[in-house]
Amino acid sequence: MSVAITYVVAQGIANTPYDRSLSSALAILSHQLEWATDTHPPLLQISSPARIALRTRDNEGVFWKAQIVNGAVISGDEALPTPAMPSDFELDKIYFSDQTIGGYEVRLAYQWLANPNQLTREPDQQQRVLLMAAEGRENRVALASDIIKGVIIPQFLVLPVAALLIWFGLSRGVAPINALQKRLRNRKPDDLSTIEDHATPVEIAPLVNAMNDLLSRLSSSVDAQRRFVADAAHQLKTPLAGLRSQAELALKAAPNDPVADNLRKIVSGTVRATRLINQLLLMASAEHPDAIERPRLNATQLARDVTEQWVPEAMKRGIDLGFESDPDSAWVRGHSLLLTEALNNLIDNALRYAPSNSQVTVAVHASHHKVTLSVQDNGPGIDPADRERIFDRFFRVLGTQTHGSGLGLAIVKEIAQRHQAELTVQPAHPTQTPPGTRFALTLTAD
Ligand SMILES: Nc1ncnc2c1ncn2[C@@H]1O[C@H](COP(=O)(O)OP(=O)(O)O)[C@@H](O)[C@H]1O
Ligand SMILES: [Mg+2]
Repeated sequence: MSVAITYVVAQGIANTPYDRSLSSALAILSHQLEWATDTHPPLLQISSPARIALRTRDNEGVFWKAQIVNGAVISGDEALPTPAMPSDFELDKIYFSDQTIGGYEVRLAYQWLANPNQLTREPDQQQRVLLMAAEGRENRVALASDIIKGVIIPQFLVLPVAALLIWFGLSRGVAPINALQKRLRNRKPDDLSTIEDHATPVEIAPLVNAMNDLLSRLSSSVDAQRRFVADAAHQLKTPLAGLRSQAELALKAAPNDPVADNLRKIVSGTVRATRLINQLLLMASAEHPDAIERPRLNATQLARDVTEQWVPEAMKRGIDLGFESDPDSAWVRGHSLLLTEALNNLIDNALRYAPSNSQVTVAVHASHHKVTLSVQDNGPGIDPADRERIFDRFFRVLGTQTHGSGLGLAIVKEIAQRHQAELTVQPAHPTQTPPGTRFALTLTAD
């Protein structure tokens, strides 16, 4: 666009001075004109100073022609074309047109003149003269192309510089927004804290404010929900404990009664319900966004204690529950109740889903920076498609026969997040069938 506009404008600019000099050529010619009298027709005799004036320095000079309107040529170059008289022509006005004469491009200036002494009479064609002056266009073309060169060549330099500056400015302007986007993407899913606005550009500050507003509303509604779950779970505990003790009392009173079997089912049902409620309570507290206290503790000791508590249950199920540690003590920063609960859930699952006569191993391995707590079984393993979803709340693999709520692994995941620990699940023996399962919780060593 710039090139096209420059081309048109440059031609206009180049025409102006040359047209002016053609006009003065016409003026010189008209001064040399002798008008018709009763005795002789109009005459155009060019004096030598006028000839010199008409011969411009850098071209062949000006061609001219003077002609009686609709009549004979008085003087000049016969080859010049005679322009048609426009219907609304004006005397003395100078007209311009571009013409080609024998392949040679010329600019033509012409005007119609009338004998000034005859103005009052009826127009007489003898007293009207068409005066023409023409010159080649090559000088104008050269000037126009000089102008175009002068304007366009710097543009080839200016445009890339401008593009570079725009790119630089835009990327600098957008950088804080990108940084904000990165910060938001890197957020933990449960992080509803407000976005600090010291780094946000002024333009998007209102947006950030609105987002902060939304976040704080969201976080108070999440809080309310969490409190509701915790309260409800807490309120349910007492009647359940009552129900359980009543059923146990009744069982004690009449252990051989026909309804004793139903009573036993009530007892085991309340045990499960109490466990679920405890899990819900733990979930609600583990989710709590306030930073938990994480004193320094010996992970090996903790894991050994937890494992010992599961030995009777393992024996009941005919499972060989083992414990390994390397080295003997591994220190981490952690919340002992929460870590105990996480291990409890993993061991509970391993004992629950592995067949009897199999092995379950709890292990603690410490390397330079990391401490890994793992629970491994040679049970049926977990289908790769389910491996992500088992950590969802209330998710249980389809066809799972034993009782459970589907909350256990969700709690483990929550606890892992609270400790900035990595939680992984893999087949224990990928090449064997059944592959077994190995859950590992990797904490930073302290
Ligand atoms: N060690 C394991 N071996 C096989 N499947 C497992 C194991 N641990 C968990 N799962 C599967 O993951 C599901 C979710 O476990 P969890 O969240 O503890 O809920 P729950 O044990 O109450 O069903 C279980 O239902 C079970 O299908
Ligand atoms: Mg479980």
